[in-house]
Amino acid sequence: MLLEQSKKYTDALLNKIVLLTGGGAGIGFEAARALSYMGAKVIIAEIDAAKGEYAQAYINSKFGNNNVDFYQINLADEKQIDTLCAYILDKYTRLDIIVNNAAVVPMGAVEAVSIADWDLSYAVNLRAPVLLTQKFLPGMKKTGGIIVFNPSSPGAYMSAYEIFKTAQMELCNALAEEIADAPIITYGVTPGFVKTGTCLKAVGIVASSMGITADKFIETLDDVAVDVEIAGAGYAVSVVNAEKYNGQITSSYQALLDAGLIEGKTETSVRPAQADYAHLSTLFNTSNAYTLRISPTPL
Ligand SMILES: NC(=O)c1ccc[n+]([C@@H]2O[C@H](COP(=O)([O-])OP(=O)(O)OC[C@H]3O[C@@H](n4cnc5c(N)ncnc54)[C@H](O)[C@@H]3O)[C@@H](O)[C@H]2O)c1
Repeated sequence: MLLEQSKKYTDALLNKIVLLTGGGAGIGFEAARALSYMGAKVIIAEIDAAKGEYAQAYINSKFGNNNVDFYQINLADEKQIDTLCAYILDKYTRLDIIVNNAAVVPMGAVEAVSIADWDLSYAVNLRAPVLLTQKFLPGMKKTGGIIVFNPSSPGAYMSAYEIFKTAQMELCNALAEEIADAPIITYGVTPGFVKTGTCLKAVGIVASSMGITADKFIETLDDVAVDVEIAGAGYAVSVVNAEKYNGQITSSYQALLDAGLIEGKTETSVRPAQADYAHLSTLFNTSNAYTLRISPTPL
């Protein structure tokens, strides 16, 4: 594992209480692994019981520290979120960090995605992060905290997903201003193009809507594809250096560079300026598009 190559981050988050949504698979699973390695207690809030149980068993046996606590939940359901919050406060007495990673990914043209899927996307991709923020903010104002969002950028045939992910950054913008005087840090982190099962399925739908093959779509982005472990480890290590990102957006890659865990150029210079399909290149390019618009003075 990447983090094990450097002893620098062992116990960097010792006994921090982290709520990681959607940590049963993909990037979230890797983030859970890295967070647990760094000593954090990680509550994986995940809808899929098989994935959540596997993540808990695998990571706990790997590190022998029992740090991962799987909690099955449908984040689209506010009552279940209430119960999750009560569970966390009862068992751990506080929450230090929220990593909003869970997502549903309905793809297709605006008119092709059912309104039920639009609603579900709103509920999981935006409403759940809002609810978690509302429920844990009062406690964090007293004990300190970090709230990590996971925004994305807009694009054709992705609107039912991307609109609510993009809105996470607006949420982060507003929150950063509102809690500027509180001991709370909030920022966004994006993984880049990571070929998880969910991503590849989404690519298939978007590519076919564009009239190109999935292979062609992937070929266009292959140069900027990020390994799933890098993506998850980047989420995790960004938390350690959270102050650096307060009110900003970073990427997994940049977070690992900043942490000295990988070598390379800063993200802006390694991202290609152009791809064959120019609009595709921007979909996963996180560098400049989402600089937070924190006004120096109230409007
Ligand atoms: N893979 C990429 O290229 C990419 C690019 C940009 C952003 N992202 C973002 O990174 C994050 C992780 O992506 P991934 O590719 O690992 O996806 P993934 O589908 O592998 O992981 C998402 C997890 O969320 C869980 N989940 C879905 N609905 C839920 C619900 N209602 N309640 C609780 N859990 C639920 C899923 O079961 C899954 O385990 C997502 O927020 C995604 O939008 C991914």
